[in-house]
Amino acid sequence: MEHYLPSFHLKGKLAAVTGATRGIGKAIASAFAEAGADVLLISRTDSDLKEMKEELQQYGTNIYTVSGDVQHYDEIIEKIEQKKIESSIDIWVNNAGINIRSAAEDVTEEEWEQIISTNMKGAFFLTQYAARQMKEKGYGKIINISSVAGHVALRTGVVYAMTKAALIQMTKTLALEWGNHGIRINAIGPWYFPTTLTEKLLQDEEYVKDIVSRTPLRRIGKLPELAGTAVFLASEASDYITGQTIFVDGGMTIYGF
Ligand SMILES: NC(=O)c1ccc[n+]([C@@H]2O[C@H](COP(=O)([O-])OP(=O)(O)OC[C@H]3O[C@@H](n4cnc5c(N)ncnc54)[C@H](OP(=O)(O)O)[C@@H]3O)[C@@H](O)[C@H]2O)c1
Repeated sequence: MEHYLPSFHLKGKLAAVTGATRGIGKAIASAFAEAGADVLLISRTDSDLKEMKEELQQYGTNIYTVSGDVQHYDEIIEKIEQKKIESSIDIWVNNAGINIRSAAEDVTEEEWEQIISTNMKGAFFLTQYAARQMKEKGYGKIINISSVAGHVALRTGVVYAMTKAALIQMTKTLALEWGNHGIRINAIGPWYFPTTLTEKLLQDEEYVKDIVSRTPLRRIGKLPELAGTAVFLASEASDYITGQTIFVDGGMTIYGF
């Protein structure tokens, strides 16, 4: 009898997640470890990395940490290389991202540089690094955390929206360029999830009412609901999917009014 249920587990895989110590990155890194992957956690704060590593050790896989700012992606790459991890990278998640919600007419060059180099430049050059290892094996999974803001117009800050749209286009272009090397690259476009990035906004009851009224499922997201999509995209179950953006948004992006 043929079996049609594909494999969702990540046993024997090495997965790297940027911005892995809080919010969405933490949820994804934790779900990966629970699914059996060795995980490389990347963020800027040593104490948070240490705490997160201790937390994930309950799953019995290898957990590695690298502290660094994705804006200085070369330093992160150097630190990963120094670790001399035996396996090469199978799964890479570009999750680290920031937003500065200035009105368009007030955006400074400094803000522009900071958002662009964190959300876009860091993601591109770290992807390039991971893809070189994946190319050698002829298999790999890259996941970019974009946003609903990269697809529809929101009042979230124009530079942030531009970087998130760029991640969607980077996903499509690299899927085309690397498909023949077995590298699958997809993006996730979250709507609102409770994290430090959205904490202040989600304390405003009127704002939350407005968000929920534009969301067919009538609530904001729960972090495991987003992590599940990341596990799917990292696993063999999604091997015929590349260049796509999956909106984990309670249906928000289908809303026509
Ligand atoms: N939350 C949402 O509703 C939502 C919706 C759409 C899209 N997103 C996207 O999802 C991603 C994660 O957002 P989040 O809400 O989980 O954010 P968060 O709660 O602020 O967490 C950000 C994580 O990234 C790390 N980080 C930030 N800047 C970094 C840098 N330059 N280099 C390395 N690590 C860095 C932070 O740790 P350190 O500060 O210690 O470095 C932290 O671990 C972002 O790309 C965001 O745009 C979020």
